[in-house]
Amino acid sequence: MRAKFLIPVGAAVVAAACGGGAKPAAQGAVSAAKTLPPVESSVVTPAERSLFGALPARMDAPGETATGAQIALGRTLYYETVLSEGHDVSCNSCHALNGYGADGRRVSFGHKGQLGSRNAPTVYNAAAQVAQFWDGRSPSVEAQAKGPILNPAEMGMPDSAAVLAHLRGSPQYRAEFAAAFPDERDPISYDNVGRAIGAFERGLVTPSRWDRFLQGDSSAITEQERRGAKTFVAAGCTACHSGTYVGGQVMQKAGLVHPWPASADSGRYAVTRQPADLMVFKVPTLRNVEMTGPYFSDGSVASLDTPIAMMGRYQLGLQFTPAQIGDIHAWLRTLTGEIPVTYVANPPLPAGTGF
Ligand code: HEC
Ligand code: HEC
Repeated sequence: MRAKFLIPVGAAVVAAACGGGAKPAAQGAVSAAKTLPPVESSVVTPAERSLFGALPARMDAPGETATGAQIALGRTLYYETVLSEGHDVSCNSCHALNGYGADGRRVSFGHKGQLGSRNAPTVYNAAAQVAQFWDGRSPSVEAQAKGPILNPAEMGMPDSAAVLAHLRGSPQYRAEFAAAFPDERDPISYDNVGRAIGAFERGLVTPSRWDRFLQGDSSAITEQERRGAKTFVAAGCTACHSGTYVGGQVMQKAGLVHPWPASADSGRYAVTRQPADLMVFKVPTLRNVEMTGPYFSDGSVASLDTPIAMMGRYQLGLQFTPAQIGDIHAWLRTLTGEIPVTYVANPPLPAGTGF
């Protein structure tokens, strides 16, 4: 089935966002890329601000509040290497919380050093996104968290029963699960592993200078950074990357205006086998993007200037000047937030029986 949340950002939207109403260059005519006039002032207008939003304190699902006991259990499980077959890999191995929630590699290494096929996206600010994974195949962080533990290339546990047997063997986990899910007769369930890790992940937010600016502190960002924000909007980047998370809300095609360069990743097509889903990805959040390279789902690009130029060209049919790239890059840096060091501090791991 085709993703419901795939909104058509067609030529009309893109052309309007480019300010001209002119049609984007025809497919394939890469050399005919248009240029964008420099922004005229560095004042971010209310209309421009309204395309974004400040981060909330937590990303709890509507109507649900995680308890302190669930969050504490989820934090422990997040760092727990016993959830991997070789007792050597945890969630934190590929999404290091003191490293902006990513691993800095092109693609991830997992169980027995196996190479995965995709770049690890950051877990910071992920829980509020429309779906999880580059291809949006998981609906929530709670559902997502149950995947890597059993994925042969990631944590490699043979089945959920083996995971639960380990957890039940630990007096500390028995007590922590009972405290986190007090109304349940059998609180150590695989669903509850996902629920607890999800409860922890829903607190992984990183407020930044951009949030302070949106909340009214106009000195929080520099003139160049403000020009960058305006250039980002004027170019039409916000057709896909907007809102509180500057992305993470829609699925879109890589190569909307000009065909994307060859990639090993076919995007959502790998899940649905629908031709319309070829090269369709979740538009990534740009929060902390300065710190979460290498870029794109295949991790093919190391420096942040390159995706800025490529997005201009392939998604919008625009050729940026070096100054425009520099301004956008400067603004993206304002999205680098503060790591909640106390919240993510590595807890002492249980050393119970059966481990
Ligand atoms: C071996 C490395 C590895 C391990 C271990 C790992 N992940 Fe991941 N994670 C990845 C990769 C690679 C992706 C992207 C895969 C894809 O999109 O198909 C990903 C995707 C995610 C996402 C989606 C983020 C987004 O924006 O779409 C979340 C959330 C996440 N992982 C959380 C976890 C949790 C929680 C654990 C532990 C239970 C974990 N990961 C263990 C490598 C890893
Ligand atoms: C039509 C939708 C669309 C538009 C417009 C768009 N993007 Fe993107 N952007 C995407 C998608 C989809 C990806 C993921 C592509 C992939 O991984 O192959 C992406 C990825 C990125 C990345 C890499 C992030 C990462 O973590 O790997 C950056 C940086 C980025 N975009 C910046 C921009 C900028 C700057 C603009 C405006 C010049 C822009 N984008 C316009 C859809 C869009």
